[in-house]
Amino acid sequence: MGQGQSGGLPKPGPGGDRNKGDGAKKEKKYEPAAPPTRVGRKQRKQKGSEAAARLPVVTPATKCKLRLLKLERVKDYLLMEEEFVTNQERLKPQEDKNEEDRSKVDDLRGSPMSVGNLEEIIDENHAIVSSSVGPEYYVNILSFVDKDQLEPGCAILMHNKVLSVVGLLQDDVDPMVSVMKVEKAPLESYADIGGLDPQIQEIKEAVELPLTHPELYEDIGIKPPKGVILYGEPGTGKTLLAKAVANSTSATFLRVVGSELIQKYLGDGPKLVRELFRVADELSPSIVFIDEIDAVGTKRYDAHSGGEREIQRTMLELLNQLDGFDSRGDVKVILATNRIESLDPALLRPGRIDRKIEFPLPDIKTKRRIFQIHTSRMTMADDVNLEEFVMTKDEFSGADIKAICTEAGLLALRERRMKVTQVDFKKAKEKVMYKKKEGVPEGLYM
Ligand SMILES: Nc1ncnc2c1ncn2[C@@H]1O[C@H](COP(=O)(O)OP(=O)(O)OP(=O)(O)O)[C@@H](O)[C@H]1O
Ligand SMILES: [Mg+2]
Repeated sequence: MGQGQSGGLPKPGPGGDRNKGDGAKKEKKYEPAAPPTRVGRKQRKQKGSEAAARLPVVTPATKCKLRLLKLERVKDYLLMEEEFVTNQERLKPQEDKNEEDRSKVDDLRGSPMSVGNLEEIIDENHAIVSSSVGPEYYVNILSFVDKDQLEPGCAILMHNKVLSVVGLLQDDVDPMVSVMKVEKAPLESYADIGGLDPQIQEIKEAVELPLTHPELYEDIGIKPPKGVILYGEPGTGKTLLAKAVANSTSATFLRVVGSELIQKYLGDGPKLVRELFRVADELSPSIVFIDEIDAVGTKRYDAHSGGEREIQRTMLELLNQLDGFDSRGDVKVILATNRIESLDPALLRPGRIDRKIEFPLPDIKTKRRIFQIHTSRMTMADDVNLEEFVMTKDEFSGADIKAICTEAGLLALRERRMKVTQVDFKKAKEKVMYKKKEGVPEGLYM
């Protein structure tokens, strides 16, 4: 039909024909075009001419409608299915998500790991570990732990529940020991010590010289002493002298107070002593200063409680470290106490701490010197005559003299005076002496 019509008009014929065909197509297509246009467009783009040629064949509109209906049903079904799936995804992961969040929070918090000791390695993957509390455990070693570095006695990290070995503490120096190292030299120097010249001389000979000039001792053919003990009345300058040594020495200075060596758990005290000397050896030449040694060094075999026995074990370890099998060449020990008579004789026997340096109460010359040291930075009135206090018969220790000077300064300050007068000193002395006597109640135990 179209051909007949177009025959008359040759030029626009094919164009018209096409137009008409397009029109027909459009007419037919309008019905199927109802479904989402996207699909149609895609098809047309992909195989436009082919589809154009094929579509007109499907003539009966009802069939097309049926097919459309069917497809729409399918589409509805698919939409439903999609919704169901998305819902499923949205609802179900609620628990998973919670779980995930929880694990993230756990990661943030970090789970604690226990620190323990490796006792023994059984085989590739198993070991016996112990922690400071409780028994030993047979546990797994996790695969990522570097087994080359594991050795019996090293500090390890354990999982907090199953106790398997999860890591190795690289720096196995006990943190307790690392704080004992004196990083910042104390301000006190030898110049701040009044008198005590023989004591200074002796401590230099026994402690500093062997570290700086060991060859001198070799030449003479003697072994330098391992350490010294400073003893004497309270406040006579024992700690002060040790501070001066720390200030002047170039060796590593480790300081401990005896009471620090007393630990909570059995075996920890001796372990700390071992660790202390090991670190001292590592950092040698070094000086270990143990103040108030009477806290651990009391006489043996009169202990009644478990705690006392533990303190004695700590002291025995100290003895062992002083002359045990491990030679501690470049480590010198300074002990200080004001109760030397209560110390175990074994600690003081020759070969261990054979140098005993006594710190007496200052004599007149020393008193004068100590007064000078402590008043050197004070502003004093012209009438001050310290000789009166120097020559007095009362027994003063260095600490008392320091207290008198401080007290006098405070009295002047109370009256807003810029200068300290003789009266201040007198009052201060009385106060200090009174307090000293009060501190030791005489005749309380007859
Ligand atoms: N010879 C001295 N020269 C100068 N100051 C001294 C002297 N002796 C003691 N002092 C003063 O006394 C203070 C206390 O002294 P130190 O701490 O050395 O006493 P100590 O002998 O260790 O006593 P304790 O046995 O009670 O531990 C020091 O800070 C110092 O100011
Ligand atoms: Mg002291």
